[in-house]
Amino acid sequence: MLSQSIFILLPLLVVAQNTLPDFVKTCKRYDPNLLKCLQESFADVLSRMANGIPEMGLRPIDPATVEQTHLVFGNNSAINMDINMINPKIYGCMASTLRDGLFDIDKGIYEMEFLIPEIYMISEFKGNGNVLMIKINSNGVIRVNTTNCVVTAKWDGKYYEKDGEEHMKLENFVMDVMIEKIYVDVEGLFGGNKDLQRATNKLINENVDVLYEEMKPVILQFVKSFAFEANSNVFDAFPMRVLFPK
Ligand SMILES: *[C@@H]1O[C@H](CO)[C@@H](O)[C@H](O)[C@H]1NC(C)=O
Ligand SMILES: *[C@@H]1O[C@H](CO)[C@@H](O)[C@H](O)[C@H]1NC(C)=O
Repeated sequence: MLSQSIFILLPLLVVAQNTLPDFVKTCKRYDPNLLKCLQESFADVLSRMANGIPEMGLRPIDPATVEQTHLVFGNNSAINMDINMINPKIYGCMASTLRDGLFDIDKGIYEMEFLIPEIYMISEFKGNGNVLMIKINSNGVIRVNTTNCVVTAKWDGKYYEKDGEEHMKLENFVMDVMIEKIYVDVEGLFGGNKDLQRATNKLINENVDVLYEEMKPVILQFVKSFAFEANSNVFDAFPMRVLFPK
């Protein structure tokens, strides 16, 4: 008897959670200083993101983890790799700031620019291909440091109704990533031959901008799916009257 009533009560509890966690500063839809409010709200949410915020459908971001990802880069002389990144961890995103933005909630306009001062990625890898004419077929560890990464994101919000509430769906999700400086360190090349490894890392870093341009579509796809999931989860879980009260 008791267990039955608990089951019946559960869906009600979920509905009652149709409010944002207390620590999230909500911003009024017609606030003339909406950008400033969202900057503060974003900072509040981010400061809690180390372990994610399950009640908002947000996964931990510092480190952001993925079990495994298979990447195929390029098809030209600079780089040409088929690589599995195993257990990549990305650190630094908690220090992001919302630098600029343009919002019109009624019209569904969302345009944002974020700055991530330092990102550090470490991952095991297993792959083969060519980098700058050097044939690579190995496994090891790759570390990447970036400074001043600027991420832009925009989407069109389309209103729809779900469970009698007004929600917003994200359409035409577009992102771009610009990085001021990248430093790469690959370990495990050439059966651990230190001299060859050092020379290759030097060459990679001297040409890192060209390599980045080649790899960018794949990196962008990866960042986009992560960001799209996080944003969609929030807009899916909460109606617009909760996210942006009038
Ligand atoms: C790369 O080029 C080869 C030969 O031109 C082609 O067969 C292959 O489909 C291309 N791969 C990709 C991923 O574009
Ligand atoms: C990369 O970032 C890590 C973590 O912040 C740091 O320990 C390391 O020294 C950095 N490497 C370089 C070359 O800047």
